[in-house]
Amino acid sequence: MTINQQDLATLQSIANTIDNDSIEKKSVEENVSQTVNNSTRTDLIEKELPEEDSIDITHLRTPIKVDLSPVYNFLGARTTQSWVDAAIANLPMIIQDHANCEKKAAGTAMNLIFRYEFSYDLQRKLAQLIREEMLHYEQVLGIMNERGQEWKYLSAGRYAKGMLKHKRTYEPAAMVDVLIIGAFIEARSCERFAALAEVIDDERLAKYYRYLLKSESRHFEDYLALAQSLSDENIDERVAFFKEVEAELISSPDAELRFHSGTPA
Ligand SMILES: [Fe+2]
Ligand SMILES: [Fe+2]
Repeated sequence: MTINQQDLATLQSIANTIDNDSIEKKSVEENVSQTVNNSTRTDLIEKELPEEDSIDITHLRTPIKVDLSPVYNFLGARTTQSWVDAAIANLPMIIQDHANCEKKAAGTAMNLIFRYEFSYDLQRKLAQLIREEMLHYEQVLGIMNERGQEWKYLSAGRYAKGMLKHKRTYEPAAMVDVLIIGAFIEARSCERFAALAEVIDDERLAKYYRYLLKSESRHFEDYLALAQSLSDENIDERVAFFKEVEAELISSPDAELRFHSGTPA
């Protein structure tokens, strides 16, 4: 049998169609499986998302009760009455410093996300944390705005620096220390919001502080779990060390009043 030029062209075109079909089928299959994977992943992410994400604090649902015993057990000292009294007497300053803290929390997490790109867990947890801290930042800005409070520059207190100066300088120890320090900052924030919420005269603000307890206590646990998961050694000793340093910063006299300051001098 001989094949003429025209038959050859027809056969070639059929072969191309079959090839294209299988390429198309493969790419459809890939797309479908990717969509399925993505939708499973999206479900997962959505399930982990906090229920509340309104910038206007009027629409927030405050949890009925958040168990703070893990936070209290983790911290080496409780906030003194004299700090609470000073904070209530200087509420606009505390609100301003709270705004700074939310922004810094997001900034620190963003630094970590760029510095330690190897861990999926770290990236996911930090991405969620940044999203939540920026939401808190927007919420506090809204509170300042409705109170007619103008933005005011506030220098950083001694608290974070007082812990960071003990950070080890080699990896992965440096990363583990930053994560442990992050856990203390989050736990202390949580403890202070709870202390303020109990005595504050402004029910709207008290309600907002109670709303924050849930996410801040989760942030503390996330940081701690990450620190342990990324360390080859048990981190208990390091946690115990920072527990003492942090408790000292909170309990000892402090000339500057800030959200994380010590006992007013
Ligand atoms: Fe926050
Ligand atoms: Fe937080």
